[in-house]
Amino acid sequence: MKKILSLKMEGITKAFPGVIANRGICLSIHSGEILGLLGENGAGKTTLMNILYGLYRPDEGTILINGEPVVLNSPRDSIRMGIGMVHQHFMLIQNHTVAENITLGYKDAPFFFPLREVEKKLKGFSELYGLEVSARKAVWQLSAGEQQRVEIIKALFRGAHLLILDEPTSVLTPPETADLFEILKRMAKEGHSIIFISHKLEEILTLCNRVVVLRKGEVVGEADTREVDKVALARMMVGRDIVFDLTRKKLTPGDPVLEVDNLTVRGDRGEVAVRELSFSVCRREILGVAGISGNGQRELVEAITGLRPADSGTVRVAGRDVTNSSARLISDYGVSHVPEERIKFGVVPNIMVYENCILKRHHRPPFFRGLFLDYDAVKEHSSRILKSFKVAAPSTSVPVKNLSGGNIQKLILGRELAGEPCLLVAAHPTYGLDVGATEYIRTQLLEHRERGISVLLISEDLEEIFQLSDRIAVMFKGEFMGVIPAGEVNMEDIGLMMAGSKRLEARGK
Ligand SMILES: Nc1ncnc2c1ncn2[C@@H]1O[C@H](COP(=O)(O)OP(=O)(O)OP(=O)(O)O)[C@@H](O)[C@H]1O
Ligand SMILES: [Mg+2]
Repeated sequence: MKKILSLKMEGITKAFPGVIANRGICLSIHSGEILGLLGENGAGKTTLMNILYGLYRPDEGTILINGEPVVLNSPRDSIRMGIGMVHQHFMLIQNHTVAENITLGYKDAPFFFPLREVEKKLKGFSELYGLEVSARKAVWQLSAGEQQRVEIIKALFRGAHLLILDEPTSVLTPPETADLFEILKRMAKEGHSIIFISHKLEEILTLCNRVVVLRKGEVVGEADTREVDKVALARMMVGRDIVFDLTRKKLTPGDPVLEVDNLTVRGDRGEVAVRELSFSVCRREILGVAGISGNGQRELVEAITGLRPADSGTVRVAGRDVTNSSARLISDYGVSHVPEERIKFGVVPNIMVYENCILKRHHRPPFFRGLFLDYDAVKEHSSRILKSFKVAAPSTSVPVKNLSGGNIQKLILGRELAGEPCLLVAAHPTYGLDVGATEYIRTQLLEHRERGISVLLISEDLEEIFQLSDRIAVMFKGEFMGVIPAGEVNMEDIGLMMAGSKRLEARGK
């Protein structure tokens, strides 16, 4: 296999029923370069990369490697040419060990003692790029960051010179992201080429040498990252200025809507994940829960929304005890939920957009009449959600799995807010959203707060926490390290609390 010294995509066009995902796209990258690919949700980034990885065939256009045209009919062809891809949703086999997962796609594995060979090579990668993994652990025991390293190693084992990473950081904690960047920079130094997709403009600016911006399937700009800033990139991407600072009106919070008292919840492995936690969220208030994921946030959210039993303690919504009630009952009481794993728990990918728009409310009027669904009402409702949340979809009668990642997230938010809830429990509501959509969703959350709902916001993004929250709680090892009015705390304190090295009690209240 020859090294990829340069790769060019020329005039790439790809249409799906009702949408042209890529239109005459040209893009080039050379050895040692890290190229950022930026664009709004649905701009065509994943489609373009799937073409490069041989998953889709372009309708038009050519791909040249080292100046020679190549035909990539399947991932096998692309792998043979030295192209590797890490998808946004990991594709590892959970019950197999790291070594087994790696050997699965590794054609040069020796027949006898393959593990020994794999471990030897792994050692090499860890020395060369700082890629550390433990070969004998099962995949389900690994953190998201470790799983991602396994995906990268898998691609390297197959001889990848060019590595595509589709939104690799959206599942990583900030320290894991920093580690990943170190690894990618070392890989580039060794002559690899990297294509990096992210919605986080700072990441593109710090990691990449060059950035290509797509809008509605076309290239609308290209820049050297030393010559642009965040504002310029955002403008290139959405064609208008983005407000990075939102204004949050001062409101007097009303009565408590969510009251959690002495709540203890266990995690999947039986360990105590939430420990004797007590707090409340009032009407017209956003309580932001900051913290590195894995500190009990998920279990807390699941216990409140009825997806996981509480060990002890109580959860009350608008004065009603809902501890260990069913998810349906809690939703009927006016609790909406934007889950962390949106593809797994937020939608049913194979059914239509309009059906997904009434999930959890299909058993109630106006959608359910007598014995049947009122399809006119359902379709009208879903068109309204698509319109007001700017979900790009050819129609409401396409399966949700055909939408781009960010558009699925917008659909879930639209659906959850359309129910006029009294409480919204939102886990990472802007994960995977482009800057324009992020601005829109945050404004929506603030508007709903003014209209009187309460929001429990779980986020790892401190900028988001500070923009939206009235009070900030920092979760560490199942406890709050403090619940503090947003104006009385700075980023540095929050950082220390996230690491568990500081505990602050609120002044006053
Ligand atoms: N298999 C498919 N069938 C039909 N339409 C598709 C399919 N895959 C993608 N599309 C459509 O093509 C367009 C581009 O989607 P793509 O996933 O490439 O966007 P993206 O830039 O990766 O967006 P995001 O940032 O939200 O991930 C979207 O309108 C999407 O709905
Ligand atoms: Mg995508």
